[in-house]
Amino acid sequence: MSRSLDPASDTARRGLAAGPWRRRARAAYRLGHALWRKVYRRPQRLKGTDYHRRWKMSLRDWLAYHQAQIVFDQSTWMGVPMLKNPLDSWIYQEILYAVQPEVLVEIGSHSGGSTLFFAQLMDLIGVGQVISLDIDRSRYRVSHPRIVELTGDCSAPEIVGKVAALCQGRRTLVIHDGDHRREAVLRDLELYAPLVSPGSYLIVEDGILDLFPPSDAFGWLVEGPLPATEDFLARHPEFEVDASRERYLMTYNPRGFLRRLPDAPSEATADASPSAAGHADRLEPS
Ligand SMILES: C[S@@+](CC[C@H](N)C(=O)[O-])C[C@H]1O[C@@H](n2cnc3c(N)ncnc32)[C@H](O)[C@@H]1O
Repeated sequence: MSRSLDPASDTARRGLAAGPWRRRARAAYRLGHALWRKVYRRPQRLKGTDYHRRWKMSLRDWLAYHQAQIVFDQSTWMGVPMLKNPLDSWIYQEILYAVQPEVLVEIGSHSGGSTLFFAQLMDLIGVGQVISLDIDRSRYRVSHPRIVELTGDCSAPEIVGKVAALCQGRRTLVIHDGDHRREAVLRDLELYAPLVSPGSYLIVEDGILDLFPPSDAFGWLVEGPLPATEDFLARHPEFEVDASRERYLMTYNPRGFLRRLPDAPSEATADASPSAAGHADRLEPS
């Protein structure tokens, strides 16, 4: 037997005042519906536009899009190709300001967009030199008084020796963006990590390559920077992953911002700890 909803029968018979409750329920429903239409369906305003499609993208979709369509063809600094995710570039600005390196070693410069970017940031900060290492200068097209070019295989003993001499006693930061194969990355990290000053960074680029299947935009069959970084970290407790440098989420360098612990001894370089660098206000907590 179905229950009657007639207030004159059921509810009224039980002596309850059904009218006000129903009116309140209807009013609440109408308010909720209006709120939903006005607030939660806001993206519908863009329905039919390209932005509406983008609105639904995931982090992974964005990274694949950026890699396939932007980074190699449409990403520049001062007109020079710079193969970076802009949010990582912003993090570089924050790290450079915090550490104030006297020497930044860039392993892999390509066209030089990133090299010029670092040199010009150093102009703004007022300190620093960029050592640009690359095995191939055919695409390289920048020059700047703060940039020193060394051409050759970064793992060659004479190149390592020259870089070590330039870093001697100076606050040093190293960025690896060269050969991305696992063995090559690990080899380079082992060679250049001793130059990194306490409190400064060893940054391993493009670990993102190891997260995508070969069918995707990043598609690699071989292993790359991410397992190399894990191998390196297992052997080097004096370095830690600074996850705060991934706070903009869309990074090409997952677990790639390695910070040398401030009290870890360094073989060749000056201390980058706040007291040693004399800029306690600029160094951020990790
Ligand atoms: C991904 S690109 C660098 C991109 C650049 N840092 C940027 O953000 O625009 C990699 C570069 O590493 C260089 N490279 C590869 N293997 C190298 C090695 N063993 N020694 C030095 N440079 C190397 C390549 O010639 C290439 O220019």
